[in-house]
Amino acid sequence: MEKRVTKAIIPAAGLGTRFLPATKAMPKEMLPILNKPTIQYIVEEAVESGIEDIIIVTGKGKRAIEDHFDNNFELEENLLKKEKFELLEEVRASSRVEIHYIRQKEAKGLGHAIWCARKFIGNEPFAVLLGDDIVQAKKPCLKQLIDQYNQLKASIIGIQQVPIEDTHRYGIIEPTSKSNRSYRVKSFVEKPKKGTAPSSLAILGRYILTPEIFPLLGEHNVGKGGEIQLTDAIQQLNNIQKVYAYEFEGKRYDVGEMLGFIRTTMEFALDNQEFGLEVEKMMTELLLKRNIMSFEN
Ligand code: UTP
Repeated sequence: MEKRVTKAIIPAAGLGTRFLPATKAMPKEMLPILNKPTIQYIVEEAVESGIEDIIIVTGKGKRAIEDHFDNNFELEENLLKKEKFELLEEVRASSRVEIHYIRQKEAKGLGHAIWCARKFIGNEPFAVLLGDDIVQAKKPCLKQLIDQYNQLKASIIGIQQVPIEDTHRYGIIEPTSKSNRSYRVKSFVEKPKKGTAPSSLAILGRYILTPEIFPLLGEHNVGKGGEIQLTDAIQQLNNIQKVYAYEFEGKRYDVGEMLGFIRTTMEFALDNQEFGLEVEKMMTELLLKRNIMSFEN
């Protein structure tokens, strides 16, 4: 029988150093964009993509995340607000999404966090979603990748173009061929040094992986920064079976670093149906005031 993608891992055990001191006692995935923690946007995308079981890998602040998703109340309320009645029914009727938790005892890298969930996944293809990227798209980003998986039956890595001067911040692919939005890949490079990136196609926090990745994520595979790097393991997987990259459609918001987080907050506030116009007025007033003041000085 063909295996479907029904399970997803959301790693949330990183140290979140870029947001200290806010992340001293709270995972960065609980930082809100307006009134919703970033991890909730991610869980909603997984649910809307048909995922049935989610495992969140936690470290410090485990309780905050667990408490947040208790009873799935927030999620149901949001689906109701968005008038996504069908989805709401699905979530309610069969409690289709089960959230499970596992602890990564030491922050040994993203690859290690995924390895910690191997027993939960077993011998099935699975999804990984990172809270650093929120994607708004007509068809949820993860669903786009799952649809690709269903055609290709191979690991699919979500990518998008980023400005060439930013490539050193991402995992970057070296593509060989392209068919529609799907790429065959020669190599996956984690955070290439400035000026050495093989392309500007960056890995952006959404993956469908086959279980053959797990043996490649063991303690033996320590990479950059002394961490077990997922990108290195994907490169090794690519040597034993086909791994594709897929340029997903949709707008991606970078909430893993301070400026991206501020920009996302501003954009979401401006787009908000209830108070977007008020926010626009507020921002215009603030800017005008600053301009007048600098003119006076
Ligand atoms: P990041 O490198 O963006 O997260 O990892 P970080 O380490 O928390 O952030 P900074 O760099 O210190 O500011 C990407 C994702 O992988 C998870 C993080 O929680 C984040 O969602 N991660 C990272 C783990 O779960 N465990 C780790 O050991 C490292």
